[in-house]
Amino acid sequence: MKRDLTVSHPSVGVSKLSRLSGGIKRLLPTSLFGRSLIIVVAPMVLLQSVLAFVFLERHWELVTQRMSEAVAREMAAVVALLEAHPQDADIQSVIDIASNHLGLRVSVLPEAVLPPRSSQPFFNLLDRTLAREINSAVGKPFWIDTVGDSTVIEARILLEDKVVRIFARRSQAYATNSHIFLVWMVGTSLVLLFIAVIFLRNQIRPIQRLAEAAERFGRGHSIADLGHSGAREVRQASHALVEMGERIERQVEQRTTMLAGVSHDLRTILTRFRLQLAMMEASEDSRALLDDVDDMEGMLNDYMAFASDNAQEPTAVVNLEEMLRSLCEHAELQNVPCGYSIDGVMQIDVRPNALKRCLGNLVSNACRYGKSVEISAVRKDDVLSITVDDDGPGIPQEAHEDVFKPFFRLDEARNQNESGTGLGLAIARDIALAHGGDISLQESSQGGLRAELIIPLG
Ligand SMILES: Nc1ncnc2c1ncn2[C@@H]1O[C@H](COP(=O)(O)OP(=O)(O)OP(=O)(O)O)[C@@H](O)[C@H]1O
Ligand SMILES: [Mg+2]
Repeated sequence: MKRDLTVSHPSVGVSKLSRLSGGIKRLLPTSLFGRSLIIVVAPMVLLQSVLAFVFLERHWELVTQRMSEAVAREMAAVVALLEAHPQDADIQSVIDIASNHLGLRVSVLPEAVLPPRSSQPFFNLLDRTLAREINSAVGKPFWIDTVGDSTVIEARILLEDKVVRIFARRSQAYATNSHIFLVWMVGTSLVLLFIAVIFLRNQIRPIQRLAEAAERFGRGHSIADLGHSGAREVRQASHALVEMGERIERQVEQRTTMLAGVSHDLRTILTRFRLQLAMMEASEDSRALLDDVDDMEGMLNDYMAFASDNAQEPTAVVNLEEMLRSLCEHAELQNVPCGYSIDGVMQIDVRPNALKRCLGNLVSNACRYGKSVEISAVRKDDVLSITVDDDGPGIPQEAHEDVFKPFFRLDEARNQNESGTGLGLAIARDIALAHGGDISLQESSQGGLRAELIIPLG
């Protein structure tokens, strides 16, 4: 027996559904302004469509039908009178009555033929309704023209030996000014939409300002000037952001001052150590101790210099080219050839001393471990990228993150003759983070290490 092996898979339906909702999501605007506008516009369009539909269906058609019915009955009355009184004198008085009291212009054509039926527009409501009503009220062959002249409609009704021609005003049979309703509806909606756009813009601007301020704060700029405007919730958020910024700044400042104080006190003690060691008899041990004291002092000096730079240094516009030139000159003084290249105009808004210390650390590492240094700065889409390349031994991939830890020195054997505290990269990364950026390490095309500093500008 053959079995049907096709199995309906429920997940196929589900995935189609999720693809559809994904497609709809992609079509929807992403901005708050666009979304809010849709929230305002969509119900308005829906409501008006329903209103218009109901109005046209129920009201317009009904009114037209009633009016056509009335005109058709009047026509039927005129036709019945003409049939009942076929004498010429009577015909004239019927015509007069119709004209004076019913608003119908009646004439009698002697030839008993109707013109051929012209093709009518399919959607002509009046034509359809009037034809139906005349048919049921008069019950004789007829011909109507509702399209030709815009203010009158014409009906011809075939009697036995003649044709009665009746002109009626179009407004008698048809709710002509109904479109005014639509015009008013669309007009007022446009006015409402315009007002909504203005109000929405005003509501969304403070949110945009808030987002920009948060971004600025992330890049280490001050946000004290963030005004408190907009709706209550937005104002609350702005207030919370400013307070958070102040708290973070206070905390950082307190930490830096405390550590700077500790470093300063330790340095005093170290000076005492050094004095005592100098007074002791020179020996292998005291020389080793003196080296350690030197190391510690270097470390403390490094930290204190960093702390004093970092303590709430305000941002300022600096010329990157000048900064790179002076770094290169400094490297050349240590007999390491150094070149730099810049792509794009480079007036940047940063903390000048901190950035110089950060780049200085990278360049001094490159000078220490390599024989030549290459710096290149590229600005693309408001992101500044500065790479420092050297041709030294580089750093193995697995240690790329470890070297950023404070006091981490890669290979003690390799660093034996080098004086260094292992704070350089930690400080450099700290500065990069304070600017909203970061530092990453890669292998350089020159064979050594490439350190890349990324800083968002804008
Ligand atoms: N360009 C480089 N080439 C090879 N190794 C490097 C390079 N830069 C840093 N390193 C390794 O990373 C370690 C940490 O560097 P870091 O700058 O933090 O400390 P340091 O240079 O030893 O001391 P300091 O910068 O505080 O004087 C270094 O000890 C070294 O082993
Ligand atoms: Mg270093």
